[in-house]
Amino acid sequence: MEKIDHYAVYGNPVKHSKSPQIHAAFAEQTAQQLHYRAHKVELGRFAEVAAQFFEHGGKGLNITVPFKLDAFEFADQLSGRARRAGAVNTLAIQDDGTIYGDNTDGVGLVRDIHDNLGWDIQGRRVLVLGAGGAVRGILGPLLKQGPSHVLIANRTEEKAQELAQQFQKLGHIAGGSYAGLASGQFDLIINGTSASMSGDLPPLPSHILSNDGCAYDMMYGAAPTPFMRWAAGETAWAVSDGLGMLVEQAAESFCIWRGVRPDTKPVIELIRQSLSA
Ligand code: ATR
Repeated sequence: MEKIDHYAVYGNPVKHSKSPQIHAAFAEQTAQQLHYRAHKVELGRFAEVAAQFFEHGGKGLNITVPFKLDAFEFADQLSGRARRAGAVNTLAIQDDGTIYGDNTDGVGLVRDIHDNLGWDIQGRRVLVLGAGGAVRGILGPLLKQGPSHVLIANRTEEKAQELAQQFQKLGHIAGGSYAGLASGQFDLIINGTSASMSGDLPPLPSHILSNDGCAYDMMYGAAPTPFMRWAAGETAWAVSDGLGMLVEQAAESFCIWRGVRPDTKPVIELIRQSLSA
């Protein structure tokens, strides 16, 4: 009998993860035989549990909050984008038994914004809200698209400045506070803060979004986030949540593991339907 390849997402919490549903849909669509489950890992035990998974024949892992840094340290080899992100969301065992670490979050965001939503990034003025791990993960692929400039705004200004400093070789990027936004205008605003999780909105001044400006929240849910509602009130040209990014980063991981690129559109629709069910 053919042996089924095993994959999993490790996180804490992980109960509400959509990844098993997404990867099951990819596997069905591409006729790949695999098993993918969500597993809650106790804090402080990531390396031990991941090592066991691979020793027992596991093929690949997705890693979510709060273990992306542990996964970064766990990997034997890292992709350039994982190194720049300082975090790993995808681990894959290689033929020689070593573990490869990649970060597919940034490419997932860019594919959703550019390919799915059809929004331009090149030449556009981009504002990124937040300076935590989620934002660090997307800056490299975002800057690669050639925006005219990127401003990172954060509650703790120094974190935004430090992050901008680390990425300045890749493009025009600066960091500042929310108060400093009063006079600027942007064509694309990406919310990478965790504010939406607690129903909060970063303190954004009015009129910072240009007439044809777009707003993207990296969070998603059954209802629009406070940031999406704010953007709609500012008459944004288009507004989106981060569900497409979630599916796109998963597709990139699937491609790393299986060498096949799934069609993401039907899977985005499937997960969207399951959110409102
Ligand atoms: P993640 O890995 O999701 O990025 P994180 O590293 O804890 O998580 O970062 C959370 C980000 O959301 C930070 O930029 C945080 O701002 P601070 O660095 O000033 O703490 C931001 N954030 C969280 N809640 C927020 C709120 N209510 N308003 C504005 N920013 C908020």
